[in-house]
Amino acid sequence: MAEDLNIISGTKAEQYESLIPQIIGLLEGETDLTANLANVCASLKEQFRWLWVGFYLVRPSGDDSANEELVLAPFQGPVACTRIRKGKGVCGTCWQQATTIIVPDVEKFPGHIACSSLSKSEIVIPAMRNGEVLAVLDVDSEELNHFDVTDKFYLEKIVELIRF
Ligand code: SME
Repeated sequence: MAEDLNIISGTKAEQYESLIPQIIGLLEGETDLTANLANVCASLKEQFRWLWVGFYLVRPSGDDSANEELVLAPFQGPVACTRIRKGKGVCGTCWQQATTIIVPDVEKFPGHIACSSLSKSEIVIPAMRNGEVLAVLDVDSEELNHFDVTDKFYLEKIVELIRF
């Protein structure tokens, strides 16, 4: 398998359309979740140059294993907070509501968790299996109002390609 990504310029949709077959190629034949999440993050970061892109997985809570929380998983970008409770921040809200959340201005999202002061807008996509959220994909941009329904459409497709 060629390890180099073909990075293109073009509209957002064109960039996703070029990247998705390459992501399919990277995931093909590999069953290790960490390896797959790492390559999905790296390919998104390389194509789009976002500030931060990464996964949080639903895992037993560090304090009380009867409860669950989101725990940081493979990502690309600045260091980030490691654990997020259900309903907290954009990621915890995405988990609770089991739906994609687009935040045009993070300062206007009540309870937003600021991992980097450079982040201005954000999108979080849930990874759903049998009606349950198993993980979320979080993407942060240094630009206000950066994410839209095109990102939602393609990032949801990409999350669906991953076997959690
Ligand atoms: N902003 C997120 C926290 C994760 S970082 O952005 C990487 C939130 O509010 O849940």
